[in-house]
Amino acid sequence: MHNNPVRVIAVTSGKGGVGKTNVSVNLSVGLALRGSRVLLMDADLGLGNVDVLLGLRSHMNLSHVLAGEASLDDILLEGPEGIGILPAASGIKHMAELSSAENTGLIHAFAALKRPVDIMVVDTAAGIADSVVRFSQAASDVIVVVCDEPASITDAYAMIKVLSRDHGVQRFQVVANMVRDTGEGRRLFEKLNAAAGRFLDVTLIHLGSVPFDDYLRRSIQRQKTVIQAFSGSRSSRAFLEIADQVSRWPAPKGVAGHLQFFIERLVQSEPDLEVL
Ligand SMILES: Nc1ncnc2c1ncn2[C@@H]1O[C@H](COP(=O)(O)OP(=O)(O)O)[C@@H](O)[C@H]1O
Ligand SMILES: [Mg+2]
Repeated sequence: MHNNPVRVIAVTSGKGGVGKTNVSVNLSVGLALRGSRVLLMDADLGLGNVDVLLGLRSHMNLSHVLAGEASLDDILLEGPEGIGILPAASGIKHMAELSSAENTGLIHAFAALKRPVDIMVVDTAAGIADSVVRFSQAASDVIVVVCDEPASITDAYAMIKVLSRDHGVQRFQVVANMVRDTGEGRRLFEKLNAAAGRFLDVTLIHLGSVPFDDYLRRSIQRQKTVIQAFSGSRSSRAFLEIADQVSRWPAPKGVAGHLQFFIERLVQSEPDLEVL
């Protein structure tokens, strides 16, 4: 059992297709390059799954762990720069309906994880599904990815509203993605921050902006992260800056920093979802 403090970062957005998975993957690689031991949990059932994005093939996922057929270490995939990939997807779908025996099994599975972890990044699903809310409220930090489209801003706001009003999450790190320039990133953040400041009791932090970058698309075609494929590109540099910021965050305090407590919070929380 590991007792080292682990930072768990949930990456959310509300709307799909705004860059959650790319932020998750590149942040993970950037943090690994800065010396952290990173676990990336793929909790997104969307099309651009982490394994597809990285050209990995997974045969087992969290559902096999829940069924007692595999350990977490068994299902981990080796990603770039030594990051471990935890294919959770189809196991997560049933998270809301886990029996108490399965909940206990999950806690034990994480407690038994042999691989040392400093930071776990969770790429969550689109929408305000039960699993997304659970991951976000159990995490030490929540990153909200937003781009300059009305639907993205509305959905990011809705996500922040539900998490703050019903689930005690008060601090959000905002990444503006696909921006034309840093000015646009800042304006996008200010727009979201103004709306949140008016109606919600939250603190929004502008973690960074990632430019719209054709090199990112080309790296996706090559099934590599843009940091590996085009390290000098604008999006790569932006992701590395964000990883630098995250590396400088103070360590999470107390029980929040232990992976098994994260999992306990995850399975024991009861998000009674209100439809927006
Ligand atoms: N910074 C960016 N520059 C250019 N295209 C981007 C950028 N970020 C995301 N994309 C495009 O958006 C698509 C969706 O990104 P993805 O990370 O899969 O979103 P999500 O996980 O939120 O659904 C990518 O396949 C890519 O084509
Ligand atoms: Mg995704």
